[in-house]
Amino acid sequence: MLSSKEYKELFPALKRKINGHDLIYLDNAATTLRSKEVMDAVCEYSLNHHANVHRSSHTLAAEATKMYEDARERVANFIDAENEEIIFTKGATESINLIAYSLATSKIIQPEEEILITTLEHHANFVPWQQIGKIFNIRVKYYQAKNGIFNFDDYLTYISHKTRVISITAVSNVTGQVIPIEELISKVRQIRKDIIIVVDGAQSVPHLPTNVKKMDADFLVFSGHKMLGPTGVGVLFGKKEYLNKINPFLFGGEMIDKVTTKDTSFNILPYKFEAGTPNVDGAVGLAKAIEILEDIGMQNIKEHDKILTDYAIEQLKLLNFLEIYGPKNESQCSIVSFNVKGIHPHDVSQLLNDLYGIAIRSGHHCAQPIMEELGVKSTCRISFYIYNEKEDIDKLILGLKKVWEWLK
Ligand SMILES: Cc1ncc(COP(=O)(O)O)c(C=O)c1O
Repeated sequence: MLSSKEYKELFPALKRKINGHDLIYLDNAATTLRSKEVMDAVCEYSLNHHANVHRSSHTLAAEATKMYEDARERVANFIDAENEEIIFTKGATESINLIAYSLATSKIIQPEEEILITTLEHHANFVPWQQIGKIFNIRVKYYQAKNGIFNFDDYLTYISHKTRVISITAVSNVTGQVIPIEELISKVRQIRKDIIIVVDGAQSVPHLPTNVKKMDADFLVFSGHKMLGPTGVGVLFGKKEYLNKINPFLFGGEMIDKVTTKDTSFNILPYKFEAGTPNVDGAVGLAKAIEILEDIGMQNIKEHDKILTDYAIEQLKLLNFLEIYGPKNESQCSIVSFNVKGIHPHDVSQLLNDLYGIAIRSGHHCAQPIMEELGVKSTCRISFYIYNEKEDIDKLILGLKKVWEWLK
């Protein structure tokens, strides 16, 4: 287990008192806290090196460009990709919109073909495909995760000779279920080699070692702010083969090669997909965040999160007034969803905050289709990161007992 007390020191928010209690932050699946080191790196860039990138030749511009490109290299190394395969975006949501729209406008998906998504998805990996389906008249097929739980064999039956794209999350942001992505991709490739596979890594990349070469996805997306980085920066990894083939999503700025009144040609990868002035602050902050995660070691983070998740499930199961969702077994990572019987999750969350300074998430978690599968409108969700420890869960359990006493 990580020495979380040591990491707590690096996050000023954890020194805050909420209604007289130390903040216990259990909402990491929504966003992680800010570390001083990451913010110092952003500040250092912003105050001393800031200029527009890839444009001017003065010293600041050269420094900014180098810092931005170094950040890209750090991201690429982190997931074992090539630099040209890393596109900086605003976040996982923008990355998926980019892929969906570009595949459709490039006519890589034809109207008679199918896109397969699942009812486990965050809206970010659901709505763009649904809307693209409507606009371009492409059928979208929905894998129904019964009771909100992914079943490998059942999923494979949804793949047909028409399937052109599958897009799937690696970890459910509601139940924390880990989808065996490598195994799944290998199986899909055995069934059909030409299916384009998109992986939503928003909840997996911050918690599990990720190697795109081993994984063999065609596209992988994730967000900086769920892995200690700033908001407003995310990543789209794409195999060069596809990035070279698909149309850009946004136009203007450094993504341009030559413009005439007749037509425009576009820059090489990765710039082809980075229109306008990019979020250099975000990229620099994300690079620092990755440095921190690499120093700790992703395997250590995985084990730490697993210990906390297992402990949380074990403790929550002892409370007979709770309904816990998801697999409740070894295939679960860093997220647990539950409800206090008969009490609205917003009330639970509000009382935990007000009485104990415990921050949890309540709501539908931008994943209404899985809520429907679970037969609820919303849940309470707890989620962990490097600065959480077992004591946080113990306090949550005390808090939940109090909530039950008050509201039952
Ligand atoms: C599984 C999953 N995918 C995508 C997203 C969207 O991420 P962002 O809002 O950073 O674009 C989230 C955010 O909660 C998520 O949990």
